[in-house]
Amino acid sequence: MVIAIDGPAGTGKSTVAGIIAKRLNITFLNSGSFYRGLTLAILEAGVDISDKNAVIEFCKKQDLGYVNSHLILNGVDVEDRLHEDAVSANASPVSAIPEVRHIVNDKLHAITKSLSIVCEGRDMTTVVFPDAEYKFYLDASIDVQAQRRFDQGVSNLSLEEIKAAIIKRDELDKNKVEGSLKIAPDATYIDTSDLTIENVCEIIISKIHQ
Ligand code: DC
Repeated sequence: MVIAIDGPAGTGKSTVAGIIAKRLNITFLNSGSFYRGLTLAILEAGVDISDKNAVIEFCKKQDLGYVNSHLILNGVDVEDRLHEDAVSANASPVSAIPEVRHIVNDKLHAITKSLSIVCEGRDMTTVVFPDAEYKFYLDASIDVQAQRRFDQGVSNLSLEEIKAAIIKRDELDKNKVEGSLKIAPDATYIDTSDLTIENVCEIIISKIHQ
C-alpha cells in the first residue's frame, strides 16, 4: 500500500506522515530528506550550485541510504543537519535539476520496493507514485506556513524572513521543469490552516478506512 502526500512547505506533511506511519505500522518516507541530503553534501564539498553539470556528476557519486526514516549520507546519519538554513535555501534549486530528480526517484523506488509506505514531498502523488492507493494534498495560508516553520525553532531567521524564504521556495517548487508541485486530479485536498495535526490525521485515516 502507498499513501502519498504532497503540498508546499509548512503544511504539516512530515509530522502527519510520521504519525500515520506509526498508527498503521508502515514505513515513513520523507522524500525531501533526499534532496536536503544531497544539498548538504554539495555545500560541504564546496560544489558550485549554479554549475548544473558539476552538481549532477557529484550527486551521482553520493551514497544515499534511509534507516528508521533517517537519511544516511555516505554512511553517516545526517538527519539532524537537514534543516540548517543553508540547506533549506539551496535544496529547491538542487531539486529543480531533472537529472538530480531521476537519481532521487530511482533511490526512492529501490528503497520502497514491496514495502507499505506513507511518503510525502512535492511529486509523490504525480510522478513517483502515480498509482498510490491514497493521495492527499495538504495546503495552508502563507502566514500559517511561516508561523509553523518559525515555531519549529530550527531556523535562525525572523518570521518575516522565513515567510519570504517560503514564498520563494514554493514558487520555485511549483515551476520546476519536472516534478513540479501540483494537485493531482485524484488527490483529496485538505486546507490545514485552521486544523490541528490531529484533525488532519483523522481526515486521512478516515479516508483510508472508508
Ligand atoms: O519538504 P522539504 O521542505 O523537506 O523539501 C526540501 C526541498 O526539496 C523543497 O524545496 C522541495 C524539494 N522537494 C522536491 O522537489 N520533491 C520532493 N518530492 C520533495 C522535496
